[in-house]
Amino acid sequence: MISFKKDTIFNRESPKHESDPMHGGVLAVWGSPGSGKTTVAVKLAKYLADKKKNVVLVLCDMTAPMLPCICPPTDLEIEKSLGSILSATHVTEALVKYNMVTHKKMDHLTFIGMLKGENEYTYASYSKVQAQELVEALRKIAPFVIIDCGSYIANDILSAVALLECDSALRLAICDLKSISYLSSQLQLLQNSNWDTDKQYKVASNIKPNHSIEHMTGAVGSVSFKLPYSEELEEQYLSGNLLADMSMKNSRLFRKEIEKIAREVFGC
Ligand SMILES: Nc1ncnc2c1ncn2[C@@H]1O[C@H](COP(=O)(O)OP(=O)(O)O)[C@@H](O)[C@H]1O
Ligand SMILES: [Mg+2]
Repeated sequence: MISFKKDTIFNRESPKHESDPMHGGVLAVWGSPGSGKTTVAVKLAKYLADKKKNVVLVLCDMTAPMLPCICPPTDLEIEKSLGSILSATHVTEALVKYNMVTHKKMDHLTFIGMLKGENEYTYASYSKVQAQELVEALRKIAPFVIIDCGSYIANDILSAVALLECDSALRLAICDLKSISYLSSQLQLLQNSNWDTDKQYKVASNIKPNHSIEHMTGAVGSVSFKLPYSEELEEQYLSGNLLADMSMKNSRLFRKEIEKIAREVFGC
């Protein structure tokens, strides 16, 4: 049985944070399935780390742990899991720090995620308390926190809590009917819990030449950012090398848009 209880995740008031979003903060990257959430979260984290900003990237996906997919596993320093954090009775700053995975070459970037082969049942079940404590601890640990949420927020306590607790959220959609259908279904869950919609930035993701962006904006309203399709990025994803630089000329538009997002969301 899945331990999640719908009413207990989605029944709290959205907190108002004092922190100034122009100086770091917690960003949740959310959106429809396959819209590029992990890709964008990783590229933003890399952008900040390259600028020597300390950033923690939390990878929430428990059905396809993404730590083994974003860089060669030999580049990662320690084998620690998000599961060990969430299965504790209480999540302390020390516990979170102990379970962070470091990168051998990128000093400013740390990860928290599930390990290869793990799933929801590898660890004891958790509730929104642990998820809230984790987000709280992350605020103290690093000035920049990026949480790569899952799409199935009704069954994914950490992603749901991250969306409610974050300072800002990217809401990704690709230009297709499934994305529109997803949003009209799942946005209700957040709206029912008084989600602060002002903190969200709508993003059209993985835009291909044959996509009708007008059709998209007609259905979901105007978007703040437009991330184009990049062949180089697709290649990096396929080879499990998302932390590599994007050097090809036709990746320029994507890189520029990531810079724009970092400026708007984090002030750098
Ligand atoms: N801008 C982009 N250019 C090329 N491919 C992209 C882009 N954004 C996402 N993708 C591709 O979309 C697929 C899903 O990406 P992923 O980040 O795993 O999505 P999600 O985390 O939302 O499930 C991957 O194959 C990835 O390479
Ligand atoms: Mg993902």
